[in-house]
Amino acid sequence: MKLLLHSALFLSSLIAETTALDFTIFNGQIFTPGFAILDAPQPGTPLGGDTIEVALDVTANGKLQLPPYGDDSPSRINNITIFLYSYDTGRNFTITNGTASTNDVTLGDIMQSESGSTVKHVKWTWPTCLIGDGKPDSADSDRGAYNISIRQNFRLNGEDHYTIFDVPISVTNKIEFTGGNPPCDSVNNPLLTPEEVDAESANSVGVLFAPGDATVIQQSGTSDDDDGIGASKPEANPGDGLGSGTHAIDSTLASCWIYLFSVICLFIL
Ligand SMILES: *[C@@H]1O[C@H](CO)[C@@H](O)[C@H](O)[C@H]1NC(C)=O
Ligand SMILES: *[C@@H]1O[C@H](CO)[C@@H](O)[C@H](O)[C@H]1NC(C)=O
Ligand SMILES: *[C@@H]1O[C@H](CO)[C@@H](O)[C@H](O)[C@H]1NC(C)=O
Ligand SMILES: *[C@@H]1O[C@H](CO)[C@@H](O)[C@H](O)[C@H]1NC(C)=O
Repeated sequence: MKLLLHSALFLSSLIAETTALDFTIFNGQIFTPGFAILDAPQPGTPLGGDTIEVALDVTANGKLQLPPYGDDSPSRINNITIFLYSYDTGRNFTITNGTASTNDVTLGDIMQSESGSTVKHVKWTWPTCLIGDGKPDSADSDRGAYNISIRQNFRLNGEDHYTIFDVPISVTNKIEFTGGNPPCDSVNNPLLTPEEVDAESANSVGVLFAPGDATVIQQSGTSDDDDGIGASKPEANPGDGLGSGTHAIDSTLASCWIYLFSVICLFIL
């Protein structure tokens, strides 16, 4: 048991060490202060193409059921909004604020998209001022460094949260006019100062559901199944609470091996 505890502590330090910008990344997934887990893009990625694509698992890798949630479920996602902003350019674009606008220049409720899928692939057409190729070519260019800001409004075990998760990316790859690109001003919002946003207070709940996190999610059945006993969790079994812990420890051991190998390799080289 002591060994396991040490492994768990070791894993936390390993997770922290392997991330350049203080992100909790495991097996390519980025854990957030909320149920959403970011599958793509990775922090620091240069982006372009026809759309920006954000892939989010909205079930904490299957731990939270998909909507519809029971009306009084102690755990649920109320909504997820996503913005693309930059203090370098002063822009703060809406990717989705829950209400689709004409021609999907901003997107509707992502929880209702790709029904039945635990991973939502948010694809948003770049606005016109981001069209170009390469790094910003003038001081007034709107291209360059941005954050994808993922805002989660959710309830976890009876407590409400609104968290802010910013992922830095750069808009430096080629973006061409596709016909549907919205004018920038039509999707732009006022940019608040970091003090006004106060992500630190918003995120006091901390990063959730990473390996080693034993948080158990209390949830009642979906609204088509409102006996309140939570029948809609077919994979549940009496070992559930322990089960997730064991899984984390398995991954821990795997990471230890990987880590050990790299240390050994260092010595050999
Ligand atoms: C998100 O959910 C909260 C709680 O139900 C609500 O107050 C807020 O207006 C919702 N926001 C959006 C953008 O739907
Ligand atoms: C991205 O967000 C971080 C904090 O979340 C902030 O320090 C940084 O200035 C932001 N980057 C840009 C380009 O706005
Ligand atoms: C969503 O964003 C669009 C575009 O910025 C805006 O017109 C609309 O009023 C916003 N809706 C909400 C609920 O904030
Ligand atoms: C961007 O705009 C949205 C909608 O108005 C707002 O909630 C968010 O705090 C803004 N982000 C920044 C960094 O100002």
